[in-house]
Order: sequence, then structure tokens, then C-alpha cells
Amino acid sequence: MQATMQEEETERYARCVAASKRVRWSIDEDVIRHRTFDTKQKFLPDGLSKVKDFTFLSEDEQRYLSQVQGRTYANIFGLVERYIDAKVLELSREHWFGDQTALEALVRFSDEELKHQELFRRIEKLVGETMPPGYQFRPQPNDVAEVVLGKGTWAVLALTLHIELFTQMHYLQSIKPDENLSLLFKDVFLYHWKEESQHAILDELEWVRCDRNTSSEERDKGVNEFIELAVAVDGILQMQAGDDSRYFADTCGRRLSSEEREQLEKGLLRAYRWQYIISGAQHPHFIKVLTNMITDAQADRIQSALSTLM
Ligand SMILES: [Fe+2]
Ligand SMILES: [Fe+2]
Repeated sequence: MQATMQEEETERYARCVAASKRVRWSIDEDVIRHRTFDTKQKFLPDGLSKVKDFTFLSEDEQRYLSQVQGRTYANIFGLVERYIDAKVLELSREHWFGDQTALEALVRFSDEELKHQELFRRIEKLVGETMPPGYQFRPQPNDVAEVVLGKGTWAVLALTLHIELFTQMHYLQSIKPDENLSLLFKDVFLYHWKEESQHAILDELEWVRCDRNTSSEERDKGVNEFIELAVAVDGILQMQAGDDSRYFADTCGRRLSSEEREQLEKGLLRAYRWQYIISGAQHPHFIKVLTNMITDAQADRIQSALSTLM
């Protein structure tokens, strides 16, 4: 690699380290501050929850559905951060005796994801105190990590950049501008976004670095594995849409007809696919980085696989 390119990369890692130090926050002193969740407000904004599409629900019921979805939203991040952290620690090995700035950036990344997992565990506990019993979140972080980390690094980093870019887009486009959200919920994702901004840059640096050492056969396999991971994510979303629709139906305060229950589950799956698969896959920067690495035929393969999830 040319010296200038190496210097440029070190500079980008250094900017991530500096930003990470600048925005560093604490769960109790900055985010929670002894607050609890205000159930008079929505949690997840309409742009993500799509609750306005559930026309058979009253306004109060739509607000409650946004809270159920918000609880799942926090749990999904806590879930995937387990595998992300393990992958980041694994990648850091490649910098042990190399670029020490890159190593520092990844160590901070890992430390932040450990803190985020703790934050989301705390949030689940706090939300649980204000919502009726019966909520279930069955996917286990270690099981998900085993499946994801069973794939090659190329595909794992594709999934990770996708997640960390949509995290930022969700915050900036939907959560931040919404005036009617629980302030605590909003702050959780404000602080999370502050650190995720650096993670997405690091994912891209690591993915591009990995891609440089990837043969075209390996890359083709990586494309297939990325599709398999999106399908695996969809399996989790189908299960959670089922669990959340049952929980909502049991706790919303009235008896839903079987047709309404069916619409509820379908609508939740649509919203979850939008949140965790489609919004990221359509992210302009994700598309830009990805298409720089793959052939048109590989891009078509991804496109047609994802279109079955829309
Ligand atoms: Fe995170
Ligand atoms: Fe992250």
C-alpha cells in the first residue's frame, strides 16, 4: 500500500479516536439521570414504527404500539452489539503490531459497544417497570453471535456497516425531529448516535481493508453470506413480530378480532423489515461502499434477495 494511502487511513482512525474522546458519555450521569419512561408519550417515532398504517387502532393504541416497538428496538441493538463487539476485538488483532492509532480506535469502539449493551439492558428493565407483564424477547445475543460470526469477515462487516448506518439515519431523520417522544427514549438514541457515528466510519475502514485482501471467489461467497445474514435477521423479525403482536393484543385493553390480530402481525413485520433491513439496504452511503466492491451481477443478486422481504 502506498505511504500516502496509509497516512490517510491513519488520519481517519485518529479522527475517530478524537471524536470518541470528545463525545464520551456515562449511562447514569448523562443518559438516564434518575428518569423513568413517560408512557403518555410515544417511544418509537411514526417514521419508524409506521403506526399510522394501523388504521384499525385508536390514537392511544397507536401510542402503545410505538412503546412496544420501542422496547423491541432497544433490545435489538443490545442483541446485535454482542457479535459486533466480538468481531471488533477479533479485527483489532490485525493492528496489534501495526497502526497503533487504528488499534486505539477499535479498542474504544469495543468499549463503547460493551457500554451500549449495558445501557440497553438497563432500558429493558426500566421499560419493564412501566409496561404490563408478558413481553418476550427470545433471541439470545450469544446464539445470534454464533450464527453471524460463522460467516466470513467480508459479510459480517457488510451487515455491521449496514446496521451502524441505519442507526444514524433513524436518529437524524426520525427520532431527533419528532416532538412527541418520551424524552428519555429520545436521549438514549441521541447518546447512542453520538458514538455510533464513529463506528460506521470504522466499519467502512475495516471492510475496505478486508476487501483489499479478498479474492473475487471469496467476495462472491461473501455476497451470498451477506444475503444469508439478511435472511437470518428476517427470521428474528418474524418471530418478534409474532411475539409483539400477541403481547399487544393481550395487553391493549380490548379484544381484537382475528382479522385485526392478523393485520397487526403483518403490519409489525412490515415495520420491522423497514427498520432493520430495508432502511439500511437503501442507505445511499451503504450502497456506494458496497457497489464499489461488487459486480453488477452480484448487486442484482442482493437486490432480488432483499426485494422478497419488502
Ligand atoms: Fe451501539
Ligand atoms: Fe456501534
